[in-house]
Amino acid sequence: MGGALIGGALIGGALIGGPEGAIVAGPQPGDPAARSRPGLLVVGASEIVTLAGGLRRGSSQADPGLLVAEAPPGRDDLGPAIAAWEGRVVAVGTLAQVQTRLAGDGLDPLDTTRFARLDASGCTVTPGLVDPHTHLVFAGTREGEIALRQRGATYLEILAAGGGILSTVAQTRAASADELLAHGRRWLAEMLAHGSTTVEAKSGYGLDRETEMRQLAVTGRLDAEGPVEVVPTFLGAHAVAPEYRGRPDATEAYVRDVIEVQLPAVAEQGIARFCDVFCEEGVFSADQSRRVLLAGARLGLTPRLHADELRPSGGAELAAEVGAAAADHLAVPSKAGIDALAAANDAGVPVVATLLPATSFFLKHDEYGPARELIERGVPLALGSDFNPGTSPTAGLQLVMSLAVLRLGLTPAEALAAVTINAAHALRLGRTHGALEPGRQADLAVWAVPSHSLIPYWLGANLVRAVVKRGQVVFARS
Ligand code: NIG
Ligand code: FE
Repeated sequence: MGGALIGGALIGGALIGGPEGAIVAGPQPGDPAARSRPGLLVVGASEIVTLAGGLRRGSSQADPGLLVAEAPPGRDDLGPAIAAWEGRVVAVGTLAQVQTRLAGDGLDPLDTTRFARLDASGCTVTPGLVDPHTHLVFAGTREGEIALRQRGATYLEILAAGGGILSTVAQTRAASADELLAHGRRWLAEMLAHGSTTVEAKSGYGLDRETEMRQLAVTGRLDAEGPVEVVPTFLGAHAVAPEYRGRPDATEAYVRDVIEVQLPAVAEQGIARFCDVFCEEGVFSADQSRRVLLAGARLGLTPRLHADELRPSGGAELAAEVGAAAADHLAVPSKAGIDALAAANDAGVPVVATLLPATSFFLKHDEYGPARELIERGVPLALGSDFNPGTSPTAGLQLVMSLAVLRLGLTPAEALAAVTINAAHALRLGRTHGALEPGRQADLAVWAVPSHSLIPYWLGANLVRAVVKRGQVVFARS
């Protein structure tokens, strides 16, 4: 496609070609002319990574569904293209194939009165990233814990001393809904700027009915505001609330509060879709976690859990047993836990193993998780940021992909599947999100590199040049 912008409404933003990818040109976020057009045509990309074909597991984890079509000079019609109409992908292929496909519906993707055009010359186009594990809504920061860890304190020691999660709980309880909303908006914007178009967001910094519901209400509001889709999870069982501490039956009594007081109110509120538990030796046992997850399931909340982050704690086994959508962390699952996840997936009940390497990195742990073994055993693998103030204050999945390649031994294609189609499955959105196939939501990210293999390579750089949500350009950077 050379470096020319082909028609379309260009409001600001120049197109600067280069060997490492062009700066994207095309409609800018909020451009009213683009908004009034129901179609979007993306042209010029060096690669389109479609991730078509459904959930990735085993050898298919490495299949990016790549579309590379070198267009000879003057034959733009042979380059890769993707068209969206009314928010959904309608055609992917060479531009000529896209034109033929749309002609059947009486549409011409080159008609700039109906199709906004995004020139992605020299860039890689992927599905918009899906972050399946974040603690988006909270107040305050915890940078002081880095120094404590430098002096040898462990994560659970800091929590037992009333810090860690509990210090964020104190700050979150003291924050108004508006303050939480402003903070959530700010970090959601960072996530979008790093290519995420759908993110999960957990409560768990209230540990009482009122604050948990406030966090969830803010999460629902952030989702309604858009453009990033936010999927709410109830995590009342994140730690034992401070008012229960010191009692001999503290954990049991708090578990009863989660099940009998918080869960019914949260279900009645109708915002949360999932119920999560921090299942970890010294926090909530597998038995306590099971009771919370089953109580949540009875109220319509799908189980997912923090499993085997610090010690093998029966979390992976429990995830398989209750048919959780995902088992997250899995830095140190037991052999029985890996067997259970493999068996669940063999039985056609996919539990997505969601690894969170930024957390291991930030906590300076040696264990990142048995990613290769999980893939070899046929367990679908996803990656998440675990964005939170204590163990992973990072909003972007690019760093997570880099760590997955460098520390978990994933290939760039495996890492990309883990933050798109498999992450969508971890949120039970695997039929509509996470891939560029006709009928799916038109969420995509444009990267200033000519190949997807360079996305995890440029360590720490934000390579995202444009983000499209439901067929509209919602972020652009030049
Ligand atoms: O996923 N481990 C439990 N929960 C979070 C950390 C929460 C915090 O420390 O504030 C995690 O790492
Ligand atoms: Fe987490």
